Amino acid sequence: MTALLIRGGTVVGPQGAIPGDVLVVGEKISAVFMPGDGPQEGDFEILDATGKYVIPGAVDAHTHMEMPFGGTKASDTFDTGTRAAAFGGTTTIIDFAIQRYGEVVQDGLAAWHAKTEGECHIDYAFHMIIGGVDDDSLKAMDQLVANEGITSFKLFMAYPGVFYSDDGQILRAMQKARDNGAMIMMHAENGPAIDVLVKQAVERGLTDPIYHGITRPEALEAEATSRAIWLASVAADCPLYIVHLSASKALEQVAAARDLGRNVFAETCPQYLYLTLEEQLGAPGFEGAKWVCSTPLRSGKESHRADLWRGLRSNDLSVVSTDHCPFCFKDQKEMGIGDFSKIPNGIGSVEHRVDLLYQGVVDGKLSLARWVETIATTPARMFGLFPQKGIIAPGSDADIVLYDPAARTRIGVETHHMNMDYSAWEGFEIAGKVDTVISRGTVIVSGDAYHGTKGHGRFVRRGLSDYLL
Ligand code: URP
Ligand code: ZN
Ligand code: ZN
Ligand code: ZN
Repeated sequence: MTALLIRGGTVVGPQGAIPGDVLVVGEKISAVFMPGDGPQEGDFEILDATGKYVIPGAVDAHTHMEMPFGGTKASDTFDTGTRAAAFGGTTTIIDFAIQRYGEVVQDGLAAWHAKTEGECHIDYAFHMIIGGVDDDSLKAMDQLVANEGITSFKLFMAYPGVFYSDDGQILRAMQKARDNGAMIMMHAENGPAIDVLVKQAVERGLTDPIYHGITRPEALEAEATSRAIWLASVAADCPLYIVHLSASKALEQVAAARDLGRNVFAETCPQYLYLTLEEQLGAPGFEGAKWVCSTPLRSGKESHRADLWRGLRSNDLSVVSTDHCPFCFKDQKEMGIGDFSKIPNGIGSVEHRVDLLYQGVVDGKLSLARWVETIATTPARMFGLFPQKGIIAPGSDADIVLYDPAARTRIGVETHHMNMDYSAWEGFEIAGKVDTVISRGTVIVSGDAYHGTKGHGRFVRRGLSDYLL
């Protein structure tokens, strides 16, 4: 068995930042030592981590590789997307398998296993999108929790006719989750109301990308978030996780529920922490299409971004995921020239989350411990991957990142590894850089060099959330 001693670094986890050495044997972390207390000589390779942070491999709990959407599909395959994730220090993704209305849940799951088998560079797990809540899919939820290692289900209050569930369907799925211990993940936007606003805008000739944001106002995210929280309370406090939360008033709903001790959690995404409706979505001509995603980017004239950073500190926002759903500009985003509602929804960031959130540490908005919690430890705990993932501790998988705070990262289409013909983060410069990435004991990224292999990544069966009341 190969062994590796990571020596001289600062080990960072939810417990704080502590100088220490990490011994990896085979695929697992074998021991964590006080500096110098580890073996001095032996049959192991030494990785010098002097001046670096040694953090758990990051867990991205929200990706959509190859996701079919609006007549096209997300441009990263599981091959290209998980390789790009690895470059960015992410060693586990949780992707969304899909059941569409009229389809069988287990068929959707089998299709996702078929797409991923032998393709992934890092470990992966699935949530299940339930696009048609009925007796059969409710039964399937039990089966997935009991036998398939799938313990979270995403429902949509948006996209009528595609993924949408009405309130009765949502309540039934929540009751089911309350019984079997699963987490309900909610896309909280009032889809029927949005569809009215979209139709009215297009009829008035307001077709530029910025109208994607204007027709999805904060009120319709806040209303849906509140409604989801109330429905979960009716379902005996079913655990509820709001995905891609973007707006201050939606955050207020989550914070109020949490202050009452409710089983409610939320994630945000890097795009909502940095980018705005005016600057990106409102870029001249059709350029703004690059930033069409749902929930949409919010106004930079309001306090959304500051409120989201504060939410990350207060734990009203527990997790930062990417919602990685990339489309190329040419031919894909361009499907919406002349009609913003035809622009496929999504932004690609799976490679940049660790760096973008580290900027919060540099700017004094997050502690080192909170950085690691929001990108690795909490998503692992939230979705039943802990302590296998998300922590540097004896017995955990040796998914480890050496992060160099003295180096710099400049993001752009010329250097990223995602299968996109543009970068939503072009020109962003960050203090800090992913230096070395280890996946289950194998060094897969070293500086700019790639040593990983397609097929190294394994499917991980998840347990129930650590956060169930
Ligand atoms: O715009 C987005 N978020 N696309 C992916 C699908 C979703 O709703 O998460
Ligand atoms: Zn969504
Ligand atoms: Zn609070
Ligand atoms: Zn998503």
